[in-house]
Amino acid sequence: MSLRWKIFYLYLIVMVTSLAVTGFYLYSYIEKSYLDNVKINNLVQANMVSNFVSRFVGTPSSYLIEPTISEYAKQINARILFTNTDGKVIVDSAPSKDFEGKNLLSYPDIKEALNGKSSTSIHNINGVGWAMYAAVPVTSKNKIVGAILISSSIDNVIELLDSIKYRMIYTFSAIGVLIGIVSLGIASFITNPLKRLTEAANILSQGKLDYKVDVKSKDEIGKLANAFNKMSFSLMKLDEERKRFVSDASHELKTPLASVKALIESLINSRNQDISFYKEILKDVNGEIDRMTKLVNDLLELARLDKIKSPRIKKVEVSEIIEEVVESLVPLARSKGVNLSFNGKGRIFAEIDPDRFYRMVYNIVENGIKYTHEGGYVIVGLYEDEEKVYLTISDNGIGISDEVLPKIFDRFARGDTARSKKSGGFGLGLAIAKEIIDMHEGRVNVKSKVGEGTTFEIELPKSKGKRY
Ligand SMILES: Nc1ncnc2c1ncn2[C@@H]1O[C@H](COP(=O)(O)OP(=O)(O)O)[C@@H](O)[C@H]1O
Ligand SMILES: [Mg+2]
Repeated sequence: MSLRWKIFYLYLIVMVTSLAVTGFYLYSYIEKSYLDNVKINNLVQANMVSNFVSRFVGTPSSYLIEPTISEYAKQINARILFTNTDGKVIVDSAPSKDFEGKNLLSYPDIKEALNGKSSTSIHNINGVGWAMYAAVPVTSKNKIVGAILISSSIDNVIELLDSIKYRMIYTFSAIGVLIGIVSLGIASFITNPLKRLTEAANILSQGKLDYKVDVKSKDEIGKLANAFNKMSFSLMKLDEERKRFVSDASHELKTPLASVKALIESLINSRNQDISFYKEILKDVNGEIDRMTKLVNDLLELARLDKIKSPRIKKVEVSEIIEEVVESLVPLARSKGVNLSFNGKGRIFAEIDPDRFYRMVYNIVENGIKYTHEGGYVIVGLYEDEEKVYLTISDNGIGISDEVLPKIFDRFARGDTARSKKSGGFGLGLAIAKEIIDMHEGRVNVKSKVGEGTTFEIELPKSKGKRY
């Protein structure tokens, strides 16, 4: 059963049940109060008759009993019976007088009255209608001498109660139908956004990643829809990134492949050339293959970084790793006429992934050398506090323009100057460095001015405990 119908039935059952219970109690209360009223009325009249009779019974005036009872019965529009202690009817107010001489001890009300208690009951008499009996004892000198029974029609009361009952049933049924309609509306109102969310999820799973659900409410479902939209948005971004990455990577591989092919074709087409010509071309081919290898290695490294999110953490001397980086980059700096120096103070330790850390520092320092003119400098600085290590890499090179600066950590992002140069990289170095910094839950900040130089500021938490 769908959620909509579940909510509908639940709501309907709760409402209809409470409606029925309320109606039942209300009606019972009305019925009881009407009948109680009649009961009291009849008992009062029976007592009045009983008082009158007890005054005359056994006296010379007892002959007055019968006409008085008949007269009174006419007045109150009821039938009055007077029995002796055996239950035998002495007076019947009805003109037919057909009860006179009959024994009514089988009537529970008479029996009760002769035992000294007043009693009432309701009867549906065939061909006559609804009647109420009210019986009370007749006492004289503290002795029960008989019973009075008043039988009066309560057809009008029963009729009234019936009409109240039917009216209540109609009204409550109408309310029930109304509740049904309303609960269906409420159920739809609650479940429609969920339906739309389900549809959206299905559309999303078919690959339409930019699909958005339109749910405006601010309740839980609205929040769910919002989260859903956020999810689809980031899925879309991820997908776009992935597509761009693949196309960029293929494009980068195409260029060296094309030059390798051109070089080899020139070898094939050449005739009787000097050996040095072949050597020259093969050297170029070799260079292109080196470039491709570097690209593939970088791509593999990125893929690996994407996959393993937890680094292989060890407590190591950070300053030592930086010294190693500087040492291996000194030849490059020398060849470019750039002064590379490290001024770390003392031994600084941290829990890091040493291989990845090396790679990160290498990429950034290499850039510093690459993008600095002859006679410039690259300075690496390292210091620490209680919780973190701080690394700065500054150069006085070409700097980064404000348009390029926000994109330098993107994959395949390169400054224009770098792109035009054949020696320029693929724009993956900083992307790799950023992944490594993120993996260590560190932060990086870049300040740069075109023509003046660039400074990378990196901070990494020192211990694993603070990180995970
Ligand atoms: N120290 C720097 N000085 C000037 N520009 C830099 C520096 N470091 C990075 N850049 C810019 O950021 C871009 C991205 O760097 P990177 O990811 O290492 O790619 P690549 O070095 O292969 O071009 C570079 O192309 C360059 O334009
Ligand atoms: Mg680089």
